[in-house]
Amino acid sequence: MDDLKAKYLGQIADAGDENALEAIRVAAVGKKGEVALKMRELGKMTPEERQVAGPALNALKDEINSALSAKKAALADAALDERLRTEWLDVTLPTRARRQGSIHPVSQATEELTAIFAELGFSVAEGPRIEDDWYNFDALNIPGHHPARAEMDTFYMHRAEGDNRPPHVLRTHTSPVQIRSMEKQGAPIRIICPGGVYRADYDQTHTPMFHQVEGLAIDKDISMANLKWVLEEFVKAFFEVDDVELRFRASHFPFTEPSAEVDIRCSWDNGQLKIGDGDDWMEILGSGMVHPKVIAAGGIDPDVYQGFAFGIGIDRLAMLKYGIPDLRAFFDSDLRWLRHYGFAALDMPNLHGGLSR
Ligand code: PHE
Repeated sequence: MDDLKAKYLGQIADAGDENALEAIRVAAVGKKGEVALKMRELGKMTPEERQVAGPALNALKDEINSALSAKKAALADAALDERLRTEWLDVTLPTRARRQGSIHPVSQATEELTAIFAELGFSVAEGPRIEDDWYNFDALNIPGHHPARAEMDTFYMHRAEGDNRPPHVLRTHTSPVQIRSMEKQGAPIRIICPGGVYRADYDQTHTPMFHQVEGLAIDKDISMANLKWVLEEFVKAFFEVDDVELRFRASHFPFTEPSAEVDIRCSWDNGQLKIGDGDDWMEILGSGMVHPKVIAAGGIDPDVYQGFAFGIGIDRLAMLKYGIPDLRAFFDSDLRWLRHYGFAALDMPNLHGGLSR
């Protein structure tokens, strides 16, 4: 018994990992291990011999088992120490300079206008960029033969031959979110919806993907006067000035009646775009009173409710506010441009702390 004890305690002390320990456990105190075999011999002994050998074998078994678990704990501690030594990291090292990203002017302008409209009681709604042509056109009172469908230079999604479902389009404006929001929440409603839109168009002030923010207010007593006030308050807050010269032009959209487009006074001197003075006007938004057919398409009773809607070009706003003359550069991902026109990553625009410091 002393030999067994010396042999196994020695092996346990030398074991290098958990697998080795397990092999020792099986050989020593497992069901067919050496201690179990010895216990079987108890039957052949005299009662006197058994009285001595039985407890001694049990004690040996206990001793081996506790040596095994002590060694197991020691191995786990050693493994942890080893990991801590190799995965060590000096968190006091300085960060690398100029590794910081910046906020794109379109994201900045979107944050700014969201803060302003939130203050005016508008919450943010969203819709998909790949849109059903019912939401993008029909529900907005633009039937299949309407010239506006062609005017919008729509990108149509490919359909497999023989697939006769109505086409999907890359949304040409954020107006489909008017319908989706009315369907979802009913009246009254006061939302804005910022997001990307698509039209096949490319020059200094047009890119095939650009950004709009839709606004929609539906209630029982809304008039054109509310629309004009909201737009004026918004534009003053956005450009951070007491007065901006706006031009409301009578216009036509199938989904509003009456309709107005709004331009801002600006100048383009030597390729420099400036807001406020000069002889030029830049169109920044379309708006009007929501057409009764559109309210009905959204599932709301147009005899009880009416409202206004607008669609503002976010990229245009950013160009004007930050004096960026060419829209195409917005989406070139040129790091030098982004560093020049980008905004500090950790400044959240808000009306009280300032929108764009
Ligand atoms: N959807 C129009 C456009 O993209 C803008 C608009 C929105 C006009 C809402 C009126 C009301 O040109």
